[in-house]
Amino acid sequence: MSLSKVPAASRGIHVSVRRQSSLRSDLKAALKELIPQKRQDMLKIKQKCSDMKVGDITVGSLIGGMRGNCSMFWQGTSLDSQEGIRFQGKNIKECQACLPSDPTSCDPSDNFLPESMLWLLMTGNVPTKQQASNLSSELAYRGAHLPDYTIKIMRNLPQDMHPMTQLAIGLASMNKSSRFARKYEQGSLGKNDYWEYTLDDALQVIASLPKLTGLIYSNIVSNGEPLGQYNENRDWSYNICSLLGMTTGDSINRHDLTEQQAKDFVNLMRLYTGIHVDHEGGNVSAHTTHLVGSALGDPFLSYSSGIMGLAGPLHGLAAQEVVKFLIEMNSKLSPEMPKSEIEDYLWKLLNSKRVVPGYGHAVLRKADPRFTAMLDFVKARPEEFKTDRNVALMQKLSEIAPKVLIEHGKTKNPYPNVDSASGILFYHYGIKELLFLTVIFGCSRSMGPMTQLVWDRIYGLPIERPKSLDMDSLKALCHL
Ligand SMILES: CC(C)(COP(=O)(O)OP(=O)(O)OC[C@H]1O[C@@H](n2cnc3c(N)ncnc32)[C@H](O)[C@@H]1OP(=O)(O)O)[C@@H](O)C(=O)NCCC(=O)NCCS
Repeated sequence: MSLSKVPAASRGIHVSVRRQSSLRSDLKAALKELIPQKRQDMLKIKQKCSDMKVGDITVGSLIGGMRGNCSMFWQGTSLDSQEGIRFQGKNIKECQACLPSDPTSCDPSDNFLPESMLWLLMTGNVPTKQQASNLSSELAYRGAHLPDYTIKIMRNLPQDMHPMTQLAIGLASMNKSSRFARKYEQGSLGKNDYWEYTLDDALQVIASLPKLTGLIYSNIVSNGEPLGQYNENRDWSYNICSLLGMTTGDSINRHDLTEQQAKDFVNLMRLYTGIHVDHEGGNVSAHTTHLVGSALGDPFLSYSSGIMGLAGPLHGLAAQEVVKFLIEMNSKLSPEMPKSEIEDYLWKLLNSKRVVPGYGHAVLRKADPRFTAMLDFVKARPEEFKTDRNVALMQKLSEIAPKVLIEHGKTKNPYPNVDSASGILFYHYGIKELLFLTVIFGCSRSMGPMTQLVWDRIYGLPIERPKSLDMDSLKALCHL
């Protein structure tokens, strides 16, 4: 069905009582209340404890990707090697229990809104339903119109250009509309006020991602023909789904999803984008955003750089490797997928010096709780997934692979990481363009680094400039 055949009533003219037509949520006011105390805390730490040692830097970490160096300040999340990620101190289950979901729905199984998570990250507090709804409205309002020049650029990008390159270009182009950059250039901005304009831009970055994502996906799959309608009365994740053509009523419903499947897909999107927002500061996408922002780059340029980092195969691109791996393995196994065949397959892979995609982690030493959350999504929908062999294999692998990897004896973490499950679930519902999966990751990951950028400006953190050592200095240090 083409979008023009979708009834007008369901094409974004969906009149909902959900939203008051406020253009601004109370997020800025909430931050204003927090700032004096937080700035005081930071000042006290700076004045009294600047010489306090955090840890030792070894030669090993200097040439080994700075592993284990505690050398960054990051406000919203922290990663424990045993427990996994905590968002302002709350683990995923706690977030699922307390963060508000879509206010237009009464379904208790709905996932929380990523907008609720954004509020939590920014303020450290759980939003009320009204606060979450207002922030969701503000993002929907802000995201309704991309600049003309951005749309023009996006429409002219080659169909086969890497989707992450398209996203980085789209975001970078929007720097032209940065309020922070404009004010800074005018020389009228005091340091204490940087954060207000950064917040404005940061929210604009996040709000613009559904439409940018829709433009990229339609560029890839439909020659630029729109797949769905943006709806100012719906939440951020819903709009991503609609613009991917994955909702009923207001999109072309590319894969003829039933009402239930489309609803589940929106909840998958909320779950996925809600828990991928942030993973401490040291990962490539977050650190890059922070680094570029430390030179007072505006949020559009900073996050565009973060997206470039996320595009690396050792970072955001790993999810697509897992999907390829599962499909390939599936094609080699007999229909019952016996354990012995899976073990043999894994051993052949390991003996040929390849890694098992979706397993292991640089910091975590347990199964990633984000993986568990995605698996719970599957377990709650047995009918939907009962005939999907890829999903069945993903589940079987999570029981079999750790034992094989332990016996193999190399990896420090033999358990499934987040990428084990995420890609194959999107694939199940019809998102089969594997390179595109990282764009969805990029939508989610905006929230943590954008939060940090706002707080970087609140605290007035300086430009990052670590000291490097050349080979002669290193040899001298090592007495070589
Ligand atoms: C995530 C990853 C890059 C972390 O790397 P790391 O911090 O160096 O991991 P470790 O310290 O556990 O690595 C120790 C050894 O185990 C190996 N190893 C780690 N994960 C492995 C896996 N999934 N399969 C096979 N071997 C693995 C490493 O290659 C390394 O071998 P080496 O000593 O011969 O170089 C790594 O686990 C990996 O490549 N996993 C598969 C890809 C993946 O799922 N990426 C997504 C991450 S979210």
